[in-house]
Amino acid sequence: MKRFLCFLLLILVPLFTPCIGYSDLEVLLKLKTSMYGRNGTGLEDWVASPASPTAHCYFSGVKCDEESRVVSLNVSFRYLPGLIPPEIGLLNKLVNLTLSSSNLTGEIPVEIAMLTSLRILNVSNNVFYKSFPGKITLGMAQLEVLDVYNNNFSGSLPTEIVNLKNLKHVHLGGNFFSGTIPEEYSEILSLQYLGLNGNALSGKIPSSLSKLKNLKSLCVGLKSLDLSINNLTGEIPESFSDLKSIELINLFQNKLHGPIPEFVGDFPNLEVFQVWGNNFTFELPQNLGRNGKLKILDVSINHLTGLIPRDLCKGGELQILILMNNFFLGSLPQEIGQCKSLLKIRIMSNMFTGTIPAGIFNLPLVTLVELSNNFFSGELPPEISGDALGLLSVTNNRITGKIPPAIGNLKNLQTLSLDMNRLSGEIPEEICRLKTLTKINFRANNISGEIPASIIHCTSLTSIDFSQNSLSGGIPKEISRLKDLSFLDLSRNQLTGQVPGEIGYMTSLTSLNLSCNNLFGRIPSVGQFLAFNGSSFLGNPNLCSARNDTCSFGGHGHGGSFSTSKLIITVIALVTVLLLIVVTVYRLRKKRLHNSRAWKLTAFQRLDFKAEDVLECLKEENIIGKGGAGTVYRGSMPEVGEFGDGVDIVRWVRKTTSELSQPSDSASVLAVVDPRLSGYPLAGVIHLFKIAMLCVKDESSARPTMREVVHRLTNPPQSAPSLLAL
Ligand SMILES: *[C@@H]1O[C@H](CO)[C@@H](O)[C@H](O)[C@H]1NC(C)=O
Ligand SMILES: *[C@@H]1O[C@H](CO)[C@@H](O)[C@H](O)[C@H]1NC(C)=O
Ligand SMILES: *[C@@H]1O[C@H](CO)[C@@H](O)[C@H](O)[C@H]1NC(C)=O
Ligand SMILES: *[C@@H]1O[C@H](CO)[C@@H](O)[C@H](O)[C@H]1NC(C)=O
Ligand SMILES: *[C@@H]1O[C@H](CO)[C@@H](O)[C@H](O)[C@H]1NC(C)=O
Ligand SMILES: *[C@@H]1O[C@H](CO)[C@@H](O)[C@H](O)[C@H]1NC(C)=O
Ligand SMILES: *[C@@H]1O[C@H](CO)[C@@H](O)[C@H](O)[C@H]1NC(C)=O
Ligand SMILES: *[C@@H]1O[C@H](CO)[C@@H](O)[C@H](O)[C@H]1NC(C)=O
Ligand SMILES: *[C@@H]1O[C@H](CO)[C@@H](O)[C@H](O)[C@H]1NC(C)=O
Ligand SMILES: *[C@@H]1O[C@H](CO)[C@@H](O)[C@H](O)[C@H]1NC(C)=O
Ligand SMILES: *[C@@H]1O[C@H](CO)[C@@H](O)[C@H](O)[C@H]1NC(C)=O
Ligand SMILES: *[C@@H]1O[C@H](CO)[C@@H](O)[C@H](O)[C@H]1NC(C)=O
Repeated sequence: MKRFLCFLLLILVPLFTPCIGYSDLEVLLKLKTSMYGRNGTGLEDWVASPASPTAHCYFSGVKCDEESRVVSLNVSFRYLPGLIPPEIGLLNKLVNLTLSSSNLTGEIPVEIAMLTSLRILNVSNNVFYKSFPGKITLGMAQLEVLDVYNNNFSGSLPTEIVNLKNLKHVHLGGNFFSGTIPEEYSEILSLQYLGLNGNALSGKIPSSLSKLKNLKSLCVGLKSLDLSINNLTGEIPESFSDLKSIELINLFQNKLHGPIPEFVGDFPNLEVFQVWGNNFTFELPQNLGRNGKLKILDVSINHLTGLIPRDLCKGGELQILILMNNFFLGSLPQEIGQCKSLLKIRIMSNMFTGTIPAGIFNLPLVTLVELSNNFFSGELPPEISGDALGLLSVTNNRITGKIPPAIGNLKNLQTLSLDMNRLSGEIPEEICRLKTLTKINFRANNISGEIPASIIHCTSLTSIDFSQNSLSGGIPKEISRLKDLSFLDLSRNQLTGQVPGEIGYMTSLTSLNLSCNNLFGRIPSVGQFLAFNGSSFLGNPNLCSARNDTCSFGGHGHGGSFSTSKLIITVIALVTVLLLIVVTVYRLRKKRLHNSRAWKLTAFQRLDFKAEDVLECLKEENIIGKGGAGTVYRGSMPEVGEFGDGVDIVRWVRKTTSELSQPSDSASVLAVVDPRLSGYPLAGVIHLFKIAMLCVKDESSARPTMREVVHRLTNPPQSAPSLLAL
């Protein structure tokens, strides 16, 4: 009853606080109960103690003043799936309130308006929904930080905050706010950070935002402007030249057009400039980087052209240079090759000409160099080092000369793509020093000589493509010792000799092409060879299929595992057919269900990456936007990796599932299944997954019989169909 009265008082007499008989201790306990909801955790030390009326000052996350009133409350990274109760308004001495990353939900109670001493209001990374009640901020004259990033707020952006004279940091990103950016935001002259990224905003960028500049010497002016991932249109306003304090500009993934104004190159403190995924045209400002502070430049996927400014790395700070998918011309400045701070260079799909600056192959920290689909010419430099380089792609240029032996110095190289160039000479033996190399692609060059048998020292290889060259000699039988190799294409060369029967034992090999060579003899008919049809051996006039009795050459006599292999193949084929049937049935059924929420991962630019890396990216702190486009994750995508073409799926699945910290059927399936299947019942997919894994057991005795497989498939477990929650 006392509580009820108190609550009435709270509503009727907002200024009459603290409530008589309702101490901060009691409010905190009320908060705990409400935020715990059904099964919250993380505030176990918040317990009443009749003996000590100030016990609450020692609760985790709580700080009091001398009068034992709570001045600071920080409840972050707990599991609190409940609501914030209206009683929070009674903690009216609060200065810092952080309720972040705790699965809190419901609406923001309007009683928060009573916390008029607040400097920090941080409710980021929760699932609060409905509109953000802007009017609660009207009395918070001291408010400096308003962080509601990554919630489910919708409606229009709050305009009430423009009255707050001390507001420095406003983050409203990662919500579902729609409409336009209020012109009034330009009146918050104290503003240093404005984050509106990842909403569903439309309209133009208000040119008045330029008022957020260095007005008085005391006032710093806007440092960060993040409007990425919205639906903004128009050009970068000319008035923005006033934003002299700006350090970060993120405008990526909008529908902006026009030039990138020259004044962007003149901002004295600009460190980060990311405008990818718009429709910007013309040239980059020639002064860009001249401030000596530029760290991150990403202008990819626009219609930019012209030369690359010389001074991008003038200050030796540039770490990320991404220019891909534009129409940039001319040669890459030599200065880029001297930029020791660089971590990533991605300039593919432009119209660059001239030689590649030699220094690029010697940068100490660089992990990723992607130069493909340009018109670079000249030779690769004889000196190559770079301990960090994981991916080097020069695909589809006009590079001539030999592959330099120094490529063997790149001790962390995982992907080497030199395909579609004009390289000649032999494959250097030094390549075989690359223990971490997983993919090597020399396709469509004019490389001659033999395939070095020492390639077996590249023990991590999963993919070899040497097709369309002038390789001669035999296929080294040692190649069969590459236990992870799943893709081998040696087609269109001048290879001779017989097909080594040992290849039949390469259980990981899923794709083989030996077409258009001068191989002879009989194609072995054992083991893995059964997985390949005639199109793997076309254009070898003297090579005959295993069944051709008139063949003039002898067979290889590796018939040992013939029948078992054949059986496995049949079983796999059958399981596949049945899987297809089951999937089709589910699909038909699903159509009748309501359209389920599709799960969408917008990768941050196309790049090879492993599934683990994707999972790694799916952390809340990496969410850069939700809004109408679905959740978008900021992937700090790894340098290299391979998941896709030519990977042995069985191995991959085994590896992925064995690395789960808490293995279970559903965890395994969720870790490996294609997200596009999110509409299928989890139990059904687990069932199929288990059968599939049984069928690929190493020992034949452990595999189920055909009868068992049919029985299992036709008798799925009965359970409530919970959809795959991805
Ligand atoms: C709390 O309960 C919900 C469903 O009621 C469940 O999804 C969640 O995993 C539970 N959380 C904890 C930490 O037990
Ligand atoms: C509030 O947070 C600010 C910044 O973190 C800090 O400087 C200040 O001391 C805090 N105030 C209280 C009362 O905890
Ligand atoms: C709040 O607490 C979390 C850990 O619980 C900590 O990481 C964070 O820095 C704290 N924030 C403030 C403003 O004290
Ligand atoms: C709680 O939130 C975290 C991160 O925001 C999320 O990963 C987790 O799934 C949520 N827990 C529940 C039970 O919703
Ligand atoms: C809000 O709180 C979270 C978690 O404590 C923290 O990571 C974030 O930096 C805070 N926001 C601001 C603007 O300080
Ligand atoms: C928040 O938004 C997501 C994405 O639209 C939705 O799946 C979820 O149900 C919403 N949660 C709440 C509590 O509104
Ligand atoms: C980009 O701009 C060009 C002309 O400037 C226009 O033809 C084209 O349709 C625009 N593309 C997009 C995706 O807006
Ligand atoms: C390929 O290299 C050989 C010498 O190894 C040369 O005779 C031939 O003309 C080259 N072909 C092309 C297309 O460059
Ligand atoms: C042969 O196998 C390849 C894939 O390895 C497949 O694309 C092709 O359709 C098959 N051809 C025949 C005739 O079965
Ligand atoms: C092998 O290469 C030849 C020639 O490029 C091509 O016609 C054939 O389809 C390829 N076969 C396979 C299985 O990829
Ligand atoms: C069998 O091989 C001979 C040459 O070795 C060839 O002429 C003949 O066409 C082949 N027959 C079949 C059915 O492939
Ligand atoms: C952007 O605008 C288009 C129409 O102009 C609309 O179809 C689309 O859903 C909008 N996207 C977002 C994220 O609001």
